[in-house]
Amino acid sequence: IDELLDEGVAGKRVFVRADLNVPLDGTTITDDGRIRAVRPTVSRLAEAGARVIVASHLGRPKGAPDPAFSLAPAAARLGELLGADVAFATDTVGDSAKAVVGALKDGQVAVLENLRFNAGETSKDDAERGAFADRLAELADLYVGDGFGAVHRKHASVYDLPARLSHAAGGLIATEVGVLKKLTEDVERPYAVVLGGAKVSDKLGVIDHLLEKADRILIGGGMAYTFLKAQGHEVGASLLQEDQIPAVQEYLKRADERGVEFVLPVDVLVAPAFPDLKTKAPANPTTVAVDAIPSDGMGLDSGPETNRLYSSKLADAATVFWNGPMGVFEHPDYAEGTRAVAQALIDSDAFTVVGGGDSAAAVRILGFDENAFGHISTGGGASLEYLEGKTLPGLAALED
Ligand code: 3PG
Repeated sequence: IDELLDEGVAGKRVFVRADLNVPLDGTTITDDGRIRAVRPTVSRLAEAGARVIVASHLGRPKGAPDPAFSLAPAAARLGELLGADVAFATDTVGDSAKAVVGALKDGQVAVLENLRFNAGETSKDDAERGAFADRLAELADLYVGDGFGAVHRKHASVYDLPARLSHAAGGLIATEVGVLKKLTEDVERPYAVVLGGAKVSDKLGVIDHLLEKADRILIGGGMAYTFLKAQGHEVGASLLQEDQIPAVQEYLKRADERGVEFVLPVDVLVAPAFPDLKTKAPANPTTVAVDAIPSDGMGLDSGPETNRLYSSKLADAATVFWNGPMGVFEHPDYAEGTRAVAQALIDSDAFTVVGGGDSAAAVRILGFDENAFGHISTGGGASLEYLEGKTLPGLAALED
């Protein structure tokens, strides 16, 4: 983006592909981290006199307008952060978008409605995606890719549009890639990785890669139960991906051969049912050792012994990457595991990277100071796929 600014953007219509996919409770944004992260790019362009068109997806609507997924709240928040009026187009390439963009003056900012209200955005068909990208291209003169959270998606606005316009990477993408490069190219050891979240299947690729890179892998969250089952424990009514057990056993074996330490929970909090996240009514969980999970027990957070163990395993690390919460942190009875990992990262002298929508949101929702971490990534899937060594379409599209 520096080069683009040096060349001059005054009077130019600049399309900024952001990731404003923020968590919402109705129309209330519960974590605005992604909007704050792209704000500097938008400000710099506007201050340089560009007519800035910000576009993003939000959630997974089905290729047609759906008010539950409107970007209007995100547009309003961006306006507050910029301290300026931000125009909002109620469509992406239709009359509203054309009128709003046509009315922009130098230095002004507009946000388009959710790109995924158009089926062309996410289509697997190159021609359909290309046709949507053609229409987006008509709105702008230049393209800035700064939606790091979406660079792993081969979508029209991420992959096809930069091929149609002069393009540059924004400041957020440059920062994110710089940090993740450090983890893949010259990582300082010991390198510890904490992986949580619901599904093992989402993490297999990254575990495969980490077996070659990490010194220690700590597993938590819903995915831990598939690991515990693979080790012969009964997991009661906990989340279990039975079909992943062979893959998990293979990874545990490879870790052993390579001297990578795998750390699993030793105790967990269980209850007969998933908690009510709306009322947050007390869940009264019981703490049990992992070899004593009752048949109706659903594991919903790691237990105190596990939290102490994990903190000690992180204390002497030089680098820590953390992706995925350790439990159902949205409920106060199940937030301790996630809080303990966040605190351990803060207490260690390691370079710490929090990757992922959910874990990034968790540290902010639990009230931690985000400046206490080395880097909080805006990308969940994107940072994992980067660490896997995959080619990310949205980065490849900007590289030439
Ligand atoms: C994310 O939240 O990881 C990104 O915004 C991408 O969203 P998606 O998984 O719906 O493509």
